[in-house]
Amino acid sequence: EKSKETALSRLFFTYQGIPYPVTMCTSETFQALDTFEARSDDIVLASYPKCGSNWIVHIISELISADSKKKYEYSEFPVLECGDPEKYQRMKQFPSPRILATHLHYDKLPGSIFKNKVKILVIFRNPKDTAVSFFHFHNDVPNIPSYGSWDEFFSQFMKGQVSWGSYFDFAINWSKHLDDENVKFILYEDLKKNLATGIKQIAEFFGFSLTGEQIQTISAHSTFQAMRAKSQETHGAIGPFLFRKGEVGDWKNLFSETQNQQMDEKFKECLAGTSLGARLKY
Ligand code: A3P
Repeated sequence: EKSKETALSRLFFTYQGIPYPVTMCTSETFQALDTFEARSDDIVLASYPKCGSNWIVHIISELISADSKKKYEYSEFPVLECGDPEKYQRMKQFPSPRILATHLHYDKLPGSIFKNKVKILVIFRNPKDTAVSFFHFHNDVPNIPSYGSWDEFFSQFMKGQVSWGSYFDFAINWSKHLDDENVKFILYEDLKKNLATGIKQIAEFFGFSLTGEQIQTISAHSTFQAMRAKSQETHGAIGPFLFRKGEVGDWKNLFSETQNQQMDEKFKECLAGTSLGARLKY
């Protein structure tokens, strides 16, 4: 057990109190991020890992492509805080609008995002399915260290000792800003239930005026099945792992009754009385 803990702790480095995966983030990039110059027409997508960020990135790129009649191309890794520190220099060359996905807390975003009143779409997913998706991601993807068991992952997830830290800290931090001007909140579960309505709301928030037919076409391209079928083409070898199952309620396959109660307790403790707690499908 001890050696496993040690092996896992080597997975992360801590920056300003939050663990990040050493394979994806560096403190040099975090320092460079402070100098990042946001533009007022950037599109920020904030989510905790595994809440559907690749789904939304895809939807927004389709919206941009349909609106500009030009295929949206973006050669940087879409997560703002990942990659080498030079990326922010290169990003100055990219045409607007740029999609900036992030797993950062609201108060860890670069200041220019607020200064330039950049619109932020926040996507949340219920914490149980998020944890299950995160576990499978670690254990399915070759080349990233896996956890010994679901129970081990669950206990680390509850402690916030996973990449990008605690789901609950992220939720508490963002819950204070979901009604801010320039911020819109959507739920994975709502999008799954009614994709076209969700896409329409996203389009309206970012000011894309598309026809009903265009929205229907984008919906057809954005179902789980459509995205999974193309995942290798769009995301390379990791594609099929990013589009694993795409369902609501998969947690029932892994959670024990005790884990279920523990999560319910934690949810209550952290989010009862917040507007997010009331809105999260839980
Ligand atoms: P599962 O592991 O439960 O299948 P992220 O992109 O933030 O890493 O989130 C990944 C999760 O979003 C995965 O969940 C993935 O299957 C799901 N997902 C991706 N595209 C989706 C889509 N079009 N419809 C529903 N779920 C989708």
